[in-house]
Amino acid sequence: MSWLLILCLQFFLLISHVTISCSSQFLGHLNESSYLLQFKASFNTDITDTSCKLAHADVSTWQNGTDCCSWLGVTRDTISGHIIGLDLSCNGLQGMVHPNSSLFRISHLQTLNLAHNRLFPTQFSSQFGAFVNLTHLNLSDTGMRGEFSSDISHLSNLVSLDLSMNDDLKWTQDVTLKRLLQNATSLTDLVFYYTDMSFITPSSFLRSLISLLWLLLVLKELV
Ligand SMILES: *[C@@H]1O[C@H](CO)[C@@H](O)[C@H](O)[C@H]1NC(C)=O
Ligand SMILES: *[C@@H]1O[C@H](CO)[C@@H](O)[C@H](O)[C@H]1NC(C)=O
Ligand SMILES: *[C@@H]1O[C@H](CO)[C@@H](O)[C@H](O)[C@H]1NC(C)=O
Ligand SMILES: *[C@@H]1O[C@H](CO)[C@@H](O)[C@H](O)[C@H]1NC(C)=O
Ligand SMILES: *[C@@H]1O[C@H](CO)[C@@H](O)[C@H](O)[C@H]1NC(C)=O
Ligand SMILES: *[C@@H]1O[C@H](CO)[C@@H](O)[C@H](O)[C@H]1NC(C)=O
Repeated sequence: MSWLLILCLQFFLLISHVTISCSSQFLGHLNESSYLLQFKASFNTDITDTSCKLAHADVSTWQNGTDCCSWLGVTRDTISGHIIGLDLSCNGLQGMVHPNSSLFRISHLQTLNLAHNRLFPTQFSSQFGAFVNLTHLNLSDTGMRGEFSSDISHLSNLVSLDLSMNDDLKWTQDVTLKRLLQNATSLTDLVFYYTDMSFITPSSFLRSLISLLWLLLVLKELV
């Protein structure tokens, strides 16, 4: 009988925890929702842009005064309440992500997908390197341009990095790419096609990749 009681109690605690996580416990992070609203407001949304039909988000569900747990495309950590995931791919967003964008104040992000939006003329500023816990970054086909900030190598937790289809995004320094490959030891998905790698010397890139593979092989041997 008593174990049944304990079970019920635990179930109740679990339920109340979940409910709390989606409301009052998050009040401390209300700023993060307002950063999202500011971020949304910095874009025009072209819903007639039908080139891409895979949208996971729907920014029209992002309304001031509503609980951001219900906003499509936003993932929150169930314990801390921080926003940890944003998938805005294919949302017909048009506009620039300024280095002062409120996006960069949502500092706990682990996944960020802005693929297939018109973010021209956004530069890959050093602010992207401040998302230290980022595991998945997808900026494919966004019209971003310029050089990669050397701070990209701070993204040491990256597992997946998709920068493809941005003709005007340039790797200008071997050392930046090399540092990234050395630092992000869990990186398994690297998608670079149609980015400008003309400044990268193939031998240096290969050396980095080989040392990465070598490291993986060595680690495999050890476990
Ligand atoms: C939330 O935003 C307000 C006003 O913009 C600011 O004063 C406050 O420091 C912020 N709180 C946190 C935890 O960032
Ligand atoms: C949300 O609404 C509150 C109160 O109505 C207002 O103070 C705040 O500026 C609004 N935030 C945004 C991002 O529009
Ligand atoms: C960011 O900078 C741009 C251009 O410098 C400016 O137009 C915009 O108002 C700034 N945004 C914020 C949130 O400060
Ligand atoms: C990054 O992750 C670590 C370990 O989980 C955590 O302690 C830290 O607060 C996180 N930082 C941010 C900005 O989310
Ligand atoms: C490697 O990543 C860590 C954690 O983000 C960072 O502090 C360090 O500066 C990075 N190293 C390089 C060479 O970028
Ligand atoms: C990046 O996002 C696009 C659109 O959601 C998707 O098709 C692509 O597979 C993603 N890239 C990676 C490496 O997951």
